[in-house]
Amino acid sequence: MSGFHIRTRAKIPAVGFGTFQDPDSQEDTVSRALQKGMRLIDTARVYDIERQVGQGIKKSGVLREDIFLGTKLWCNSYHPNDVEQALDDSLRDLDTPYVDLLLMHYPCTFKRGPERFPRDAEGRMLHGETTYADTWRAMEKLTRTGKVKAIGVSNFSKGEIETLVRESDTVPAVHQMEVHPYLQQKGFSEWLRGKGIHVIQFSPLGNMNDFYRQTGWSKDIAHMMRVTDQPILKEIGEKYGKSPVQVVLAWGITSGRSVIPKSVIDWQVDENLAADFELEAEDMARIATLDVKARFNDPSLDYEWRLYSDLEGIDGTVRGKTH
Ligand SMILES: NC(=O)c1ccc[n+]([C@@H]2O[C@H](COP(=O)([O-])OP(=O)(O)OC[C@H]3O[C@@H](n4cnc5c(N)ncnc54)[C@H](OP(=O)(O)O)[C@@H]3O)[C@@H](O)[C@H]2O)c1
Repeated sequence: MSGFHIRTRAKIPAVGFGTFQDPDSQEDTVSRALQKGMRLIDTARVYDIERQVGQGIKKSGVLREDIFLGTKLWCNSYHPNDVEQALDDSLRDLDTPYVDLLLMHYPCTFKRGPERFPRDAEGRMLHGETTYADTWRAMEKLTRTGKVKAIGVSNFSKGEIETLVRESDTVPAVHQMEVHPYLQQKGFSEWLRGKGIHVIQFSPLGNMNDFYRQTGWSKDIAHMMRVTDQPILKEIGEKYGKSPVQVVLAWGITSGRSVIPKSVIDWQVDENLAADFELEAEDMARIATLDVKARFNDPSLDYEWRLYSDLEGIDGTVRGKTH
């Protein structure tokens, strides 16, 4: 499995395994995925699945040190005095002494306390009083405890990352963000590369996950043709003997990013693992034409925080004729 070096010099695999959803099958799928050769596991406190992930790791028989395991701090634990306890809760459920990567899940801070989505009587999200910069400085301290090997962020804008860099001593090792052929974020990706921040693409298959058709965040555009049904991808795949899904994942890897498709189906996990190959420049150029700036993961209204404010794909419009 190929991979990339992040700024801590650790190696992160090119293809990883997402664990959002399907709590009942995740223990077995994580275990089987590891046995098949998957070495990067992405999870999060808010997925409520860390226990199953931890059990899956144990069941697989794969050595912990051979796995790159990442989890994410959730927005109700962003107060600096809560950050270490939240990590300890994750480590307990994951049944591991450390994680390779801890991400701040979103830049918005929710009210401290046990409620993951704290709301007032009208259902409006209650925000916390500290900022993501305060949280980041608390995360920085965790890297000195041995419980976290690297720290990073997810769903940040360029301006928010600039603030973190200005107000702390640590540049994020990773930015996990939505990237796929419909939302290529080329300029932002290059900017992150220039800062030495490695990108992990979430939802690498775009609107493949039915979650986006069901949620109010993105339903207007989530019904457009699935990324992987684009004829260009099939044509390119024929040249390499690969499927459109594999072409989409290889596009991310050839761009220097890790991809974390989620699947609970064995043959799909095999297919995703075999997507670790390089595309030629002419094929990369053809895929570049699919960039309609369609962002599916945008909970800004629900979280009452204008996410991605200086990035592409926040106005709900889609260029081209892909509907
Ligand atoms: N940081 C964040 O805010 C954030 C947000 C979203 C996601 N994530 C992370 O990214 C991971 C992946 O994101 P995602 O689930 O939204 O999107 P995705 O991986 O792009 O799409 C998942 C969907 O694609 C299907 N699929 C996977 N491999 C396939 C294959 N080879 N052929 C056909 N279908 C295939 C899955 O089917 P089955 O499930 O039926 O197997 C599932 O319906 C998540 O699990 C999570 O770890 C992070």
